[in-house]
Amino acid sequence: QIKGFIFDLDGVIANTSLYHGQAWHQLADELGVTWTEDLANQLKGVARMDSLNLILKAGGKENDYTEAEKEKLAAKKNENYLGLLDSLSQDDILPGMKEFIEDLSAHHYLVSLASSSKNSPIVLKKLDLAKYFDGKVDPATLTHGKPDPEIYVRGAEVLNLKPEECIGLEDAIAGVKSINGAHETSLGIGDPKILNEADLNFNDTSEVTLENIKKAMD
Ligand code: BG6
Ligand code: MG
Repeated sequence: QIKGFIFDLDGVIANTSLYHGQAWHQLADELGVTWTEDLANQLKGVARMDSLNLILKAGGKENDYTEAEKEKLAAKKNENYLGLLDSLSQDDILPGMKEFIEDLSAHHYLVSLASSSKNSPIVLKKLDLAKYFDGKVDPATLTHGKPDPEIYVRGAEVLNLKPEECIGLEDAIAGVKSINGAHETSLGIGDPKILNEADLNFNDTSEVTLENIKKAMD
């Protein structure tokens, strides 16, 4: 029986995955690494340093920078990203997600956050959604980021639920893998060809309702 929902943030609750993508794209251009749709999809959901390493690898530049230089590059991307968040407001909540989260509260489901982003507190605050979460995983405390299962394992633990009692919601390949590895039910939001490992699939956030989820699980 499902008792809890574990949410990714960027690309599931807010359209901020777009801004992460823009900021990484700009850095890739500056580093002379070709930006492709495939690279963009690989980066989704992945922690900051792991993302930079994937970009450098894609350009065959994985040995060109010291750790200190990489820290600077990652910090530059983050400054850029934070600039893009300046005008973030409740209008940036993806269609139907506020209503869905409110509906979960009304039906006494437990809700936690499993975002890789160290900026998630800022984003949730700007969207005025922090109050709906019964628990949050702090990505700074993780040993391994997505696609490792750790963050979704912890997402259930903070709710005192068993993995099989939880549904994880993700827009990213790395996130779906993490949910599956944690033995929870994965709900992929986006192109089913890309998120083909998800247990359930919805093309768009507006389709994510309790009713549709119940139908899909039957
Ligand atoms: C994920 C995003 O939620 O967080 C990734 O999908 C991002 O694009 C990752 O790289 C880490 O975010 P941050 O804000 O800590 O750099
Ligand atoms: Mg995401």
